Amino acid sequence: MNDGLDPENWDEFRATAHRMLDASVDRLETAREGRVWTPFPDSKKAEYAAAVPTKGSSGADVQTALSDLLPYGVGNTHPRFFGWVHGSGSAASMLGEIAAAGMNANLGGRDHGAIYVERQVIDWARQIMGFPEGSSGLIVTGTSMATIVAMKVARDRRLGFGARKSGIGAQNLVGYASTQAHSCMPRAFDMLGLGADAMRKVRCNAACEMDLDALRRMIRQDRAEGYEPFCVVGTAGAVNVGAIDDLTAIADIAATEDLWFHVDGAFGATAVLSDRVRPLLAGMERADSLAFDFHKWLHVNYSAGCVLIRDGEAHRYSFADRPEYLHSAEAGLASGDYWPVDYGPELSRGFLSLKIWTQLKHYGTERLGQAITRNCEQAAYLAEQIRQKPELELLAPVALNIVCYRFCDADGDLDGLNDRIVIEMQESGVAVPSTTRLEGKLAIRVNLTNHRTRNSDLDLLLAETVRLGAEMSRNAPAG
Ligand SMILES: Cc1ncc(COP(=O)(O)O)c(C=O)c1O
Repeated sequence: MNDGLDPENWDEFRATAHRMLDASVDRLETAREGRVWTPFPDSKKAEYAAAVPTKGSSGADVQTALSDLLPYGVGNTHPRFFGWVHGSGSAASMLGEIAAAGMNANLGGRDHGAIYVERQVIDWARQIMGFPEGSSGLIVTGTSMATIVAMKVARDRRLGFGARKSGIGAQNLVGYASTQAHSCMPRAFDMLGLGADAMRKVRCNAACEMDLDALRRMIRQDRAEGYEPFCVVGTAGAVNVGAIDDLTAIADIAATEDLWFHVDGAFGATAVLSDRVRPLLAGMERADSLAFDFHKWLHVNYSAGCVLIRDGEAHRYSFADRPEYLHSAEAGLASGDYWPVDYGPELSRGFLSLKIWTQLKHYGTERLGQAITRNCEQAAYLAEQIRQKPELELLAPVALNIVCYRFCDADGDLDGLNDRIVIEMQESGVAVPSTTRLEGKLAIRVNLTNHRTRNSDLDLLLAETVRLGAEMSRNAPAG
């Protein structure tokens, strides 16, 4: 009897692991087929509410349970998943995840191969985004976490790094982002003790981009009232409609007003790899910090985000604080001059960067950029098809990859009708768009960050919207 946790029979484990791998690869290979989203059945919900097992199960039984789980994902691997902003993943990511599982490396720091992979990934990110040498970065779970790291560096640099010990005390820091900015911005302000209200919301112009005159006025007014403006946030790809702020103009204002310039480029920043989108992102490379995801438009499997900080020293001053037992040695495993723990809140960290490395190594930036361009062309195609259908109405300009529309060929409660259309499409498994509200109207929102989508998928989406809209409005109770 083996008293550790290793398999008693490695041949048996190998066969079980191969079956698991085959089931996972089958799932990806058939990602285009079948339903988009499949609700988790009640019987399965009950299974996953069982008490903690005191006795184990065989590897074969566990593998069967895992294989049975595979159909019940979010649906984002399917070509007709258009909800929120989800990447669709890749086979290459899976290779990286397998290798990471075999290594079980802890990426808090020290001197081992995984750290050099992570350093290279951060340096590749720096090159892709046009940041100068000397910038630093950290691989994190997503843009929400990247934003907290970036805003902490910005806050500490403004207050003095002593605030790390003494606390932020009485201060009047305020920052600015557009009304289209993501909720992770006020959340970061909340978590950093500045208060969500200190994240001022600047109104937008008709293109849903930050109104820069309004920004200048708000900065002036805040100063007059005794507040201390310390940062401004440009959004590169706003979640509602895909708008990109004028990043060059915001960089200029930040320089004039002595503000930290942060860019939320959760999905939009990686579109710098697309020849079509790159010009719209001019100015992003001037940011003091940039938060973005690999798991969205670069299709690395969840989760994989990144923060880049122009002033690498400030980044380190804001986080480095190692206790004795973690001090770097001159040689041996505990040496090395890049310890990620010095750049973020986490000590133990998994090897997220390996699947990012695999993705970039396998596809290269050109092919990834072409997939982004294709999605933008599809968004333009979809908008054109909507314009040609009298039953449908386009609700926002299409700047990038997000199309907002609604069925409008009915009287009465169009919001309720369009909401029901979306739920029915999701539940029938045909397509998964999501919804948002634009100028008080409920919109069917189609986000294209999906490398598997084809125009025929978009045709089907619109045909289904028109069919369901007509059927539901016909069957609606009178009055
Ligand atoms: C513009 C924007 N910022 C931030 C986020 C949050 O990113 P994450 O979900 O990776 O934390 C999103 C997510 O969709 C987003 O679209």
